[in-house]
Amino acid sequence: MITDRLHIGGRTIVITGAAGAIGSTVALAVAEAGATAVLIDVDLRRLDELAARLHDQGYPAIAIAGDCSDFAALTAVVREATEQVGPPDGMVALIGGVEPAEFGPFIGFGTATYDSLVDRNLRTAVVTHEVVAKAMVDAGRGGSLVSISAATGIASAPFHALYGAAKAGVMSLARTLALEFGPLGIRVNTVAPGGVETFTPADPEEMARIERSVIPLGRRVTPIEIAATALFLLSDLSSAITGQTLVLDGGALAKPGFLDADNVPVFVTNKALRERMRASATKPISSVEQPTKGK
Ligand SMILES: NC(=O)c1ccc[n+]([C@@H]2O[C@H](COP(=O)([O-])OP(=O)(O)OC[C@H]3O[C@@H](n4cnc5c(N)ncnc54)[C@H](O)[C@@H]3O)[C@@H](O)[C@H]2O)c1
Repeated sequence: MITDRLHIGGRTIVITGAAGAIGSTVALAVAEAGATAVLIDVDLRRLDELAARLHDQGYPAIAIAGDCSDFAALTAVVREATEQVGPPDGMVALIGGVEPAEFGPFIGFGTATYDSLVDRNLRTAVVTHEVVAKAMVDAGRGGSLVSISAATGIASAPFHALYGAAKAGVMSLARTLALEFGPLGIRVNTVAPGGVETFTPADPEEMARIERSVIPLGRRVTPIEIAATALFLLSDLSSAITGQTLVLDGGALAKPGFLDADNVPVFVTNKALRERMRASATKPISSVEQPTKGK
């Protein structure tokens, strides 16, 4: 049955950056899907809280603190996890992001943010892919490696240029490793989210207006939608997919900047034509059910 391909029950999945906003949702989803979650993060306190939550719900999960930018440290963590719950069948690598102090113009911030942004967003991806793939190879089994990159790595990242460059590097890594690891039965893919609902905006109404004007689906994506895509890529439903970047952005990248909120090109100067186009714009249905949105 096609639904058999959905099952990742009984597999061991490494989740790095598990204590984070999206990582904790991915960890819960992996556990709900029946896999054993190996939770790794540098933040021991939040890691332990997450592990306690999963254990309270009866899920098999282990938590091991470790710095995923350090090859030797992560090798030791994955060895310990393998001894406890068996070798990994999959990974979701979530470490990354930008700190508020790292935003700024390229002149002044470019070189200055290189070490922190590239280490956090690319080096951790390199280390996690190498260590987890080696553990799979040592165990003589294939698997699925999934990373979380960002749509800004495809478009552009003004005021956080090194973040965009590092995330583009993560996408390149997935393409190349798909070739190197294909013969080993290891698939490698990356999920590139646009804006994610990881925080509550100060002005929710203003945020909703902005989202409707720049995102075709009219909203940011949710952590659960990222978790769902990661589960798809971990599972045998995606058995022929490798080397790919799956963009999860509500259609935002498809919308060029010269289209206004109603999708009318801003350079259409003929007033009558502008009004005709604006009148043809699809009106949002506020009561529309969005079954896939979730929490
Ligand atoms: N939040 C968004 O809007 C958004 C949008 C696009 C892409 N992303 C990407 O999604 C991923 C997750 O984002 P998030 O918002 O959940 O981030 P987050 O900051 O909430 O979580 C990141 C986690 O990684 C951990 N971490 C950092 N460095 C580490 C290291 N060296 N070793 C081990 N753990 C380490 C942190 O302790 C934290 O728990 C990131 O890669 C981010 O770039 C996020």
